Parts: sequence; structure tokens; C-alpha cells
Amino acid sequence: MQYRRLGRTEMRVSEVAFGAWAIGADWGDVSDDDAVAALEAALDTGVNFIDTADVYGDGRSERLIARVLKDRTDRVFVATKAGRRLRPHVAEGYNEANLTAFVERSLRNLEVEALDLVQLHCPPTEVYYRPEVFAALDGLKQAGKILHYGVSVEKVEEAIKAIGYPGVESVQIIFNIFRQRPAELFFRLAEEADVGIIARVPLASGLLSGRMRHDTTFAADDHRQYNRTGAAFDVGETFGGVPFDVGLEAVEALRPLLPPDLPMAQFALRWILMFDAVSCVIPGAKNAVQARANAAASDAPPVEAATMTRVAKLYEALIHPHVHHRW
Ligand SMILES: NC(=O)c1ccc[n+]([C@@H]2O[C@H](COP(=O)([O-])OP(=O)(O)OC[C@H]3O[C@@H](n4cnc5c(N)ncnc54)[C@H](OP(=O)(O)O)[C@@H]3O)[C@@H](O)[C@H]2O)c1
Repeated sequence: MQYRRLGRTEMRVSEVAFGAWAIGADWGDVSDDDAVAALEAALDTGVNFIDTADVYGDGRSERLIARVLKDRTDRVFVATKAGRRLRPHVAEGYNEANLTAFVERSLRNLEVEALDLVQLHCPPTEVYYRPEVFAALDGLKQAGKILHYGVSVEKVEEAIKAIGYPGVESVQIIFNIFRQRPAELFFRLAEEADVGIIARVPLASGLLSGRMRHDTTFAADDHRQYNRTGAAFDVGETFGGVPFDVGLEAVEALRPLLPPDLPMAQFALRWILMFDAVSCVIPGAKNAVQARANAAASDAPPVEAATMTRVAKLYEALIHPHVHHRW
């Protein structure tokens, strides 16, 4: 496992980290045993950064992480998120009182004295135009409740606005073979500001594992079933916002570009790691086998320049019209 700086923080994070949404909820049934095994397997490979949120299974994901970390001595950084408990989810809700309450709850769930990293959880765009929100986060830092803060964004423009605040030390954004726009401009700006980039939804919700087919079905409580059109939250979080059939066609076009013996999921993660601006990639894993396979991407050979070009062309031809100007 290779490690990278997370922006200007002191954290040196495994370049392949762990996305803990699926072990909370919204991805069909994942048992506690599988969730714990997935986390343990990831940590055993050298993963030292976990991304979660207070709303994943209403705290289940955070509590499972606490359970696993209790028995380990290695330093593992846990990034959580705040904001999505708001009902309704509106910019006005991102105030000092609410943020403090959310942080206090995550402190209890994670059983720690201070949170390593708190990210605003895809707030309404308006929040990025409210300096008082970031002042509130500064206050939580001064109070010792959080060590660092950052943002998780839907849109590139939100990311660019967010890094104008000096306290923002990380940006989590969707970046994968099907969502390439962050690399156009934002990555350079983030590097100049020395802000860490956490690449989420790296497998386009599993599409980029190459295992899905036209007749693949999902459980009713899996967002890949109920959020196909964005009924529950931003449709960009489900298959990266790429229509399922279009994604399957692009996956077939990608297949001949893979080096022999490299599973598509590992190729997809390695492709993301070719971008130096990225601090870490946070694939979700529902079991130990997936967690180990994902971690192995760190040791896969670099993607050849000619292949990078062919992937860029594939994106332009098949995917760009569906996503590029939406996020
Ligand atoms: N708003 C936000 O801030 C936000 C939104 C979304 C995600 N996130 C974060 O980003 C993380 C990653 O994104 P994600 O979980 O949505 O999507 P993802 O990482 O693109 O896809 C994860 C899914 O792909 C499948 N998979 C994983 N590893 C695999 C492997 N080696 N081979 C084959 N299939 C594999 C699993 O589902 P199946 O086996 O069922 O196919 C898994 O649940 C989340 O866990 C969360 O921490 C944050």
C-alpha cells in the first residue's frame, strides 16, 4: 500500500482507502459480520483512512467502525460528514447549533474525543456563500471537537468556491472513468491551494467492476434500484449519473483496454491514482473479498500513457454528453 499527503494536513493516508456507505445502508442487505470483515480486511492491507457519514444507516456505519477500531492499535483516520440529518435539508440548517449537535453525535458514535475530519455533506450550493458556516467549523476546531474540516461536493463549481475558505483542507468529489471533469481545472486549483482530494464513487457504484449486465437486478433498498432517476438524492451518486445502459456500453468499450489479468475494478481505481492531485480513492466494499481486491489496486502497475489517452477518448465519445455539464 502506498500513502499520500492529504493536502496540508499531517495525515498521510493510504491511497486506497475505505468508503463506508454500503456497510451502513442503502446498498441492499450487508450483515454486521460482512461489514466488520470488510473493514478488518481493508485495515490488514494497510488502509488507514475510512470515509463515513452520520446518516449512513443512521449511525450504523460509524458505530461499526468504532467497534472495529477499538481492538486495533494502528492509527486509522476516520472522516465523517455532517448536514444530511437536517429535515428539511436547507442552507439555513447549516448553523453553529446544528453542526455542533451533529458533531457531538458523531463523537459518541465513533467513541472518540475529537473527529479527524468532518466534511459538510453535499450541502445546498448556497452554503458555500455563507462564510458563517465555515466560521462555525473554525469554532468547532478551536473547541477541540474536530481536528480538520473539509467539504463533500456535488459540483466542480462548489469545490472551487469551497477552497476559497482557508480552513477547508479537503474536498471529496466524484471522480472516476465516467466522471472526468474535476481533472479539467479543479485539480490544478486544489494543488495550488494544497487541498486534499478524496475521490468518491470510484467504481461508478459498481458499474466499473465490469460485472453488471442488462438483466442485473438490485434489491428494493439498494439506491441502484430506487435512485435511478434521482428520486431520493442527487442522481449523480448512482452510477455517477450515467444511464445504466450507456454505462454498460462504455464498460464493454473499456474491456479491451485492460492489461491482461487486471480486474476492471482495480484498473478503474488505478486510473484514478494516476492523477497526482488525488490524495486517496474511497471505494465502497461490502465484504472482505472486495476490500482486499480494491486495496490491491495500489500495487497494480501504472496505466500506460496510450491507455490513458484511449480512456479519455472513450469518455469523450460515450459518456461526456450524459454527465460532463451536469456536475
Ligand atoms: N455525498 C457523499 O459525500 C457521498 C456519496 C456517495 C459516496 N460517498 C462515499 O464514497 C464511497 C464510495 O462510493 P460508493 O460506495 O457510492 O460507490 P463505489 O465505490 O463506486 O462502488 C461501491 C460498490 O461497488 C461494488 N464493489 C466494490 N468493490 C468491488 C470489487 N472489487 N469488485 C466488484 N464490485 C465491487 C460493491 O457493490 P456490489 O457488490 O453490490 O455491486 C460496492 O458497494 C462511499 O462508500 C462513501 O464513503 C460519499
